[in-house]
Amino acid sequence: MKNAVEIHSLNKTFDGMDYVLKNLNLNIPEGHITTIIGFSGTGKSVLLKHILGLVQPSSGRICVLGKDLAAMSPEELIDFRCHLGVLFQHAALFDDMTVLENVCFPIIEHRRNWETDAIIETAARKLKDSGMEEKHFHKLPSELSGGQRKRVGLARALALDPEILLYDEPTTGLDPILTEMVDDLIRTTHDKHPGSTSIVVTHDLHAAFNVGNFIVMLDKGGVLLQGNRDTFFKSDIPLVQSFLEKGFKKE
Ligand SMILES: Nc1ncnc2c1ncn2[C@@H]1O[C@H](COP(=O)(O)OP(=O)(O)OP(=O)(O)O)[C@@H](O)[C@H]1O
Ligand SMILES: [Mg+2]
Repeated sequence: MKNAVEIHSLNKTFDGMDYVLKNLNLNIPEGHITTIIGFSGTGKSVLLKHILGLVQPSSGRICVLGKDLAAMSPEELIDFRCHLGVLFQHAALFDDMTVLENVCFPIIEHRRNWETDAIIETAARKLKDSGMEEKHFHKLPSELSGGQRKRVGLARALALDPEILLYDEPTTGLDPILTEMVDDLIRTTHDKHPGSTSIVVTHDLHAAFNVGNFIVMLDKGGVLLQGNRDTFFKSDIPLVQSFLEKGFKKE
């Protein structure tokens, strides 16, 4: 099996004392949905930022789609990020841009030779694929519901047809109905893009086990356990058991 992401002996400290990531080794398989779980502050978001090349490792190696991130110049890294789409927790839309403009933005930035019509047509298609109706295209983010904002964020993440889609806590703070909608959206989006890789960082255990087919649990900046649903439910690691217990009790 090919890996979309390969991480070797990754260490990260921001202050030279505390290690946020410690000797982290992880392969994320291509073509699947991987979910990353773990208690708060265990380094999940920092790991995602390393994969995006937004944060530099203190030591260790990160290969994304077969390319060593450390070997790239800053300009190459910016170009390379076209292969990655990200949906952050609060969708992080540009507040002063309409729905359509938000999705056109990365296309204008990275497809400099495209005609305006082609840019708008692509953005509109991504919005429709993400379940947004055309009547909302000229609204501002403040005029949308939470679920609609997620859909626009997803459309923007998909704008450049990325090979890897990353989600950081896509459902945190949403009600159960919206959570289910976003989980479905992650799955259907993945199914619509055969061969693509999805990486979902989540607190939501239900999502972790129902959306992902490969699950990774981090603890203290390292990988505590990885595998499928069975691996986790059969594990006798106390921390895994307590995480499962706490997560499923909340529902
Ligand atoms: N830019 C930064 N500078 C210094 N410390 C940081 C920085 N970013 C993250 N950290 C620290 O790294 C640790 C891990 O943070 P991270 O955001 O990855 O946690 P997380 O697992 O995503 O938690 P949560 O589930 O709450 O989102 C935390 O102790 C945090 O304070
Ligand atoms: Mg986080």
